Amino acid sequence: MSGADAVKEDRLWQRHADMAKLGGTPRGGVNRQALSPEDAAARNQLISWAKARGFSLFADTIGNLFIRKEGTDPTLSPVLSGSHMDSQPTGGRFDGMYGVLAAFEALEALEDAGIRTRRPVMAVAWTNEEGSRFQPGAMGSAVFAGTYRLDDMLGQKDWKGVVLKDALAETLAAAPAPLREGAPGFAVDSYIEAHIEQGPRLENERRTIGVVTAIQGSRRYIVTIDGEEAHAGTTPRAARKDAYAAATRLAAALYEATTDADDTLRFTIGRVEVLPGSPNTVPGKVTFTIDMRHPEDAVLARHEAIIERLVGEKTTPCAASLQKVTNVPPTHFDPAVIDLVRDKAAGLGLSHMDMPSGAGHDAMHVARLCPTGMIFVPCERGISHNEIENATPADLAAGTKVLVEVLEALANR
Ligand code: GLV
Ligand code: MN
Ligand code: MN
Repeated sequence: MSGADAVKEDRLWQRHADMAKLGGTPRGGVNRQALSPEDAAARNQLISWAKARGFSLFADTIGNLFIRKEGTDPTLSPVLSGSHMDSQPTGGRFDGMYGVLAAFEALEALEDAGIRTRRPVMAVAWTNEEGSRFQPGAMGSAVFAGTYRLDDMLGQKDWKGVVLKDALAETLAAAPAPLREGAPGFAVDSYIEAHIEQGPRLENERRTIGVVTAIQGSRRYIVTIDGEEAHAGTTPRAARKDAYAAATRLAAALYEATTDADDTLRFTIGRVEVLPGSPNTVPGKVTFTIDMRHPEDAVLARHEAIIERLVGEKTTPCAASLQKVTNVPPTHFDPAVIDLVRDKAAGLGLSHMDMPSGAGHDAMHVARLCPTGMIFVPCERGISHNEIENATPADLAAGTKVLVEVLEALANR
């Protein structure tokens, strides 16, 4: 039996259903934000499945969780596959979780088929990919790859002021795994991540497998506008330093300045906080986030300069500042891994197409370390970062079959 033949669609689907209960929301999605009790519950679930299968496992000091199936030559560096188990506050059940469960299914399928590869094959659940609670996102993989410093990340605070180091300690205590001490990161031969597409192209073009060639560049910022609190009933408009009024002027100018003719530049204000948040006090402070993406770094740089200028121009008489939170340049995946994914999809008789990723993924950081690629499967109407996100058991299994074949080929090099 081949590794692909040993992929069990029902087992994979049931695991998604089991995980969806952890942080499950009334509309069928999940709220399993990074380093929350729900994240710890998902870690415990994965740990118990790994133990039941007899795989060894460990966590590193940023909380990335690794599961290992030995190869015949333990001196060789492993082939790695995975994604993330944390979600958006109103997230879907497949974003990230699919890549973790596909990697775990791949380990099980190889085991069930009695396949021993030369290299070890490892599954990983990276910490805090979403970056909706703790900034920046794709944190675990970025620390692993040496892009971000562990100490800087441990000091990050969530929107309520909880320090990441404390949330991580609580999570690791609630979901204990042997700890790999020291700075995260070790030699990895190659990395391959499965994910739902999170866009509509595969569905529209009736293809099952997306052979991912690249990830567009992304930058995130926090804008802070300081005005002056004042009485809503007594303070004339001319005498106000209304931070929210300044924010709306700025936001309107930013949307205008980032609208491009071919609709390629992505610009999102996703979180706004208005303080003190009282109906009858003129707002004294506003913060909002900007998420901006484009396939070309130069376009992002040009628009960053425009944003900087507008933050100064549009916010008087308030004071405003722009803080850059992340700057991830475009990623181009390894041509040999891209070819391998395409060949394996074709060999399994699956329809496929090459495509870049609009979304960010842990693979963009790991690609700095080793040959890396990604496999996409369709999701319903391309909807993601939404509780109604959906995918079919057959497509999830098809992507996992390609993953198993790719992992086996990489692990026998
Ligand atoms: C990941 O969820 C992203 O924002 O691209
Ligand atoms: Mn994801
Ligand atoms: Mn996501």
